[in-house]
Amino acid sequence: MQLIIFLLSLFLLISSLLYISEGVAAGCEDWTLHGSKDVCCRKCKPGNRLVTLCGPDPSQFCMPCEPRHYTTEPMSPYCTICTQCTVQACTASSDTKCGCRPGLRCGDKQCTFCVDECKIGEEPTPQRVCRKCPEGKFNDQIHSACKPWRKSCPEGQTLEASGNASSDNRCKSVPQPSASTTVSTLHVRIPHKGKS
Ligand SMILES: *[C@@H]1O[C@H](CO)[C@@H](O)[C@H](O)[C@H]1NC(C)=O
Repeated sequence: MQLIIFLLSLFLLISSLLYISEGVAAGCEDWTLHGSKDVCCRKCKPGNRLVTLCGPDPSQFCMPCEPRHYTTEPMSPYCTICTQCTVQACTASSDTKCGCRPGLRCGDKQCTFCVDECKIGEEPTPQRVCRKCPEGKFNDQIHSACKPWRKSCPEGQTLEASGNASSDNRCKSVPQPSASTTVSTLHVRIPHKGKS
């Protein structure tokens, strides 16, 4: 019996500490008399959802939101799931402030999740991870799609260095040809018919 009482007190202590640590007071903040023995809640305490509107016991009217849930309405019967990315953590009375830590970026318009920021030479995949640019493509910018290497150099230029994941094929100007270096000879064998 003593053990049970001890465990029960321990449980009550821990749960009250939890509520204190989350800063949420449970219950109805404002109520009015209804009939001879009932009262009705007009406004739950911040971070509480409405469970029962009227009854004899005002402590039963409102309950704090479950962990990772919040409400901004004083009379809402339910709490909303907190948005899942954090610059400022969700509390029982305000939603998460969104944005992503350095090195991460928002994964969608509403920033409901963060993804790794892809580096130069990488691109984001539909599976929300970064991968190295595949052979034949490059990316010289962060967090964007890889682009194919140029297929040829502009006229008057020649390939200087092949591309890699982070840079395109590089071209350089060909020095103006001078006559002495561009002599090419064409050897043609002409078959002889008959005897010599
Ligand atoms: C890719 O090529 C560029 C230019 O040719 C070079 O500067 C760079 O070091 C190369 N990067 C890697 C990872 O090989």
